[in-house]
This record gives sequence, structure tokens and C-alpha cells, in this order.
Amino acid sequence: MQETLEVSLGDRTYPIIIAANKIISFGAELSKLNIPKKLALVSNQNVSAIYGGVVSCSLKQHGFESIEFNLPDGEEFKTIESLQSIYDFLIENKFDRGCGIVALGGGVVGDMVGFAAATFLRGVPLIQIPTTLLAQVDSSVGGKTAVNHRLGKNLIGAFYQPELVYIDISVLDTLDYRDYVAGIAEVIKYGVIRDYEFFCWLEDNVELLKNKDSSALTYAIKKSCQIKAEIVAADEREGSIRAILNYGHTFGHAVEMLSGYGTWKHGEAVAIGMNVAAKISLQQGSCSQHDVDRLVGLLRAFDLPVAPPNYKLDDYIESMRLDKKVKQGALTLVLNRGLGDVVLQKITNVKKVFSAIL
Ligand code: NAD
Ligand code: GLY
Repeated sequence: MQETLEVSLGDRTYPIIIAANKIISFGAELSKLNIPKKLALVSNQNVSAIYGGVVSCSLKQHGFESIEFNLPDGEEFKTIESLQSIYDFLIENKFDRGCGIVALGGGVVGDMVGFAAATFLRGVPLIQIPTTLLAQVDSSVGGKTAVNHRLGKNLIGAFYQPELVYIDISVLDTLDYRDYVAGIAEVIKYGVIRDYEFFCWLEDNVELLKNKDSSALTYAIKKSCQIKAEIVAADEREGSIRAILNYGHTFGHAVEMLSGYGTWKHGEAVAIGMNVAAKISLQQGSCSQHDVDRLVGLLRAFDLPVAPPNYKLDDYIESMRLDKKVKQGALTLVLNRGLGDVVLQKITNVKKVFSAIL
């Protein structure tokens, strides 16, 4: 099985290949593109131990020279210091403008390596091999790259598109359940913001997805990537519609920051944030109690958390104010209009709105 989607961005258009049991074919696919022969293969110790060998072997078979570098594993290492270590590695190994970088891992590796590729020598080609469900359906697609700051998630970053996103669904076999369902949270997000039929399909396919059934999984990944690719093609740098992809994220990022990066998985924090967003949508009259119940029911069916941790309202508000979605003091929230559609709403009375929910 192999399918190819596209993120249409003029002369920066790139393919998303979705395959099963084909990680060994990565080098062959890459050789069809105009990619430099010298590559840095950047991963973390955990992912590299499972997939680093097969990827570098596949690269070698197709005439690429790759040098491996591993980052420490975890959201708490998505830092400027880790980024610095990538630059050190590239410079010490004499990487120049005729080289490229492959990110092999989940969203943490993908975001950091993406930012390194965007900034090293003012930009070198980037290839994404996402190995978590979350990275396959979201972070590897669309060109957002970043590291965290202690005061806020992803505050230092750049938009930088890859040359190829290579998804092999079979690598999810080794992903643990908690990380897997964290990715499902972002899949559910696409149904809520854009596609009611997909939301209903998710409700009907919980057990198959929980069991990583390959045809259900392929469908969910393909649908998610299609929705994301369409939104990114319409608004690459989040001037307008791309903001809807942040549904549940403003509050979710606050949860991640307040609890200490790595305490909650990003997808878990987004699940909590989606519950909060749905409740505010109900409060603001853009959805019904039944819609909230269905969303919360679906998140729970995947064993995702929905209850906000018990931090002070003022701490949540301060953290949300530092998020990138605040402009001139007003917080713009993505609210769901029923299920399958959203509306962007500027909130000025932030304290009142959130105190009624928390
Ligand atoms: P992660 O990268 O930390 O991966 C989760 C865990 O799974 C890690 O321990 C990792 O080593 C392990 N792992 C990865 N692939 C594996 C595999 N195939 N088998 C076994 N273990 C494997 O977390 P994540 O959920 O993938 O990504 C979260 C990050 O993504 C956050 O930093 C978030 O901000 C970012 N993100 C970015 C975007 C974007 O548009 N750029 C979108 C959503 C999320
Ligand atoms: N994950 C949000 C975005 O890519 O815009």
C-alpha cells in the first residue's frame, strides 16, 4: 500500500507519502527527488535504536551518505540547548549548503530539527519521517518548526516547509498506547473543526483505531493529512484560516507549560483544551450540550484526559496571554460551531469566560 498526497505551495509544493511496511524504501523515494547526497539523520536515542539502522541502510543503498545524531528524548528537551547541539553537530561534521537534514521521530524531534534546517546556513533541505501518530497527522505537515521557552510553548520558531513527508504507518506498532492515543486527539480535532462525517466515522471506529487496525489507521491518517494540507495550502503563515488548527491548543499549551513540559503529552493537553473550548462554545451559544457530550465521549472512548488540572485561574490566564494567539491584549479562541465547523472569537472578558468553565 502506498498513497501520495500533496501540500500545494507553488514551487515549494511537496509530497506526503503514506505507506505501510515500507521504511526500507525511504531511500528509493528520496532518490526520486532533487535532494543532496550528504544528509544528517537526526533522531532521538529511543527512535534511533529501533529505526535508525534501517533508515541509514536504505539511504546508503540509494547513494546517500548519512551521519546520525541523536537528541535526548522528551518534550523537556525541546529547548534552545538541544538546538545548539544540532548546530554543533552540523558544523563539526562540515555540513554545508549542499547538504540536507532528515528528521526521524515524533513531533519533538520534527519541530526541533525543522527549526535547525530552517536556520542552519539560512536554510537547508528538510525531510520529515514522522514516527508517532501525532507527527504523522499533524506536526510533520505544514512547516511549523519551533522550540519551547520556559514561559511558553513553541515561542521560538519559523515556518519552514519540508521537501518530503514520508509516513510509514507500521512504525506505530512500536509506539506505546499513551503516545498513540495522544495522536488520536489531533485526529479528532480535524473532525471537530472541518468534517462532521469524519467525526461520525471516528465515533464508529473507536475499537478498530484503538487496535491500530491498518485500514482504519490509514484512512484516519490520510483524512487528517488531507485536511491539514488543504488548510496550509490556503494560509501557510496563519494569517487567517490556519488558526483553526489551534482548536484546543491555547488552553492545552497552558496546561503543558504550567505542569512542566513533558508531564502531559501534547495530545493529552490538547484533549483537555478541546473539552474547555467546547464548553466555552456552549457558553457562547455556538454549540449544544449534546455536541459537547459527543466530543467528550469520543475523547474518553480513547482514554484521553478531559479534566483541566487544578491550577489557579490567574495562572492559566497569564500563561494563555503569553501564547502566540494573543494580539493587542485580546485572546482569539477557536470555538466549535456544532461539530464539523468552527468560528474564531475574540475574547476580551477572558477572566469571566474562563471562570465559568474552570
Ligand atoms: P514525541 O516526539 O515526544 O514522541 C512521543 C514519544 O514516542 C517519545 O518518547 C518518542 O521517543 C517516542 N517514539 C516516537 N516514535 C516512536 C515509535 N515509532 N516507536 C516507539 N516510540 C516512539 O511526541 P509527539 O506527540 O510525537 O509530538 C509532540 C510535539 O509535537 C510537541 O512538542 C508539540 O508542540 C509538537 N507539535 C507540533 C505541531 C506542528 O505543527 N509543528 C503540531 C502538533 C504538535
Ligand atoms: N498544529 C497547528 C498548525 O500546524 O498550524
